[in-house]
Amino acid sequence: MAALAAPLLLAVVATPALVHHSSAEASARSQPVPSGRFLYLRDCGVCHGERGEGTPLGQRLTHIGPAEVDYTLSTGRMPVDEPGAERRRREPRYSRAERTAIVDFMRPFIAPTPDIPHVDVAAGDVAEGAELYLAQCAACHQWAGEGGALLGDIESPPLKDSTPVQIAEAIHSGPLNMPVFVLSDDEVNSIAAYVLYLRHPEDRGGVGLWHFGPLTEGAVAWLFGLGAVVMVCRWIGTRE
Ligand code: HEC
Ligand code: HEC
Repeated sequence: MAALAAPLLLAVVATPALVHHSSAEASARSQPVPSGRFLYLRDCGVCHGERGEGTPLGQRLTHIGPAEVDYTLSTGRMPVDEPGAERRRREPRYSRAERTAIVDFMRPFIAPTPDIPHVDVAAGDVAEGAELYLAQCAACHQWAGEGGALLGDIESPPLKDSTPVQIAEAIHSGPLNMPVFVLSDDEVNSIAAYVLYLRHPEDRGGVGLWHFGPLTEGAVAWLFGLGAVVMVCRWIGTRE
């Protein structure tokens, strides 16, 4: 009896779980990626026009390359819900496949270049990247990639979440107030490697002090260093 009942029981317990599992998997697999045309017309056309010609709600996109479209989508900057919405990094709305579909639909009416770049961080040279970053990027993004204020209410964003491809896309297309940089693939690889390195820097001088830079370092020197000197002077002066 037991020999017969055990497999039966197992079958009864396991079947619903199995069925449930495989049906969830199947529905995830069978969910087709909506066409780029559908996504563009539903989510972008109302502001940017049916073929990127622009409307009073959103600018013309015909001079913009695939790299910048991909950048605005993968950083969640587009689509915005209303024309005046703040331009900032958000949780992206689309999967990678949906993004590709939208960009491919737009290719016939936008500029052919700059195209979505290929980045090889492993081929980058961190030391060369540091030199380039400090010369070309640090003025706006701060030396440790923390970002900072630019003119008016425009900000250079922090780079802590940027992927290598987003870094290259920003370099090639110069979104918003960022200039377009003419750099070789090797140089872009190196900058990307350095920006990734900045997330886990070796603080050889000691405590990193949140990488705010010289200002906090100065403040700490004044507070603790000078404070200690004053305490010692007091101790000497009041000693019997
Ligand atoms: C509610 C209106 C609105 C919708 C919807 C919208 N956009 Fe935009 N888009 C704007 C405005 C306004 C700007 C310019 C201001 C800015 O960059 O924040 C812009 C800018 C852009 C830019 C150029 C950015 C730059 O650096 O110059 C791209 C590319 C773009 N949008 C793509 C898209 C795509 C693709 C979609 C659909 C997934 C979309 N937008 C949906 C209003 C919209
Ligand atoms: C004149 C100031 C300026 C300089 C110089 C500059 N940037 Fe930017 N950068 C900006 C601004 C402003 C934005 C925000 C653009 C937007 O809203 O889409 C930005 C955006 C970015 C982003 C996207 C951040 C995100 O949200 O993921 C990356 C990556 C980036 N820059 C990298 C660089 C690199 C690398 C360099 C040097 C080669 C550089 N930038 C030089 C101003 C600058």
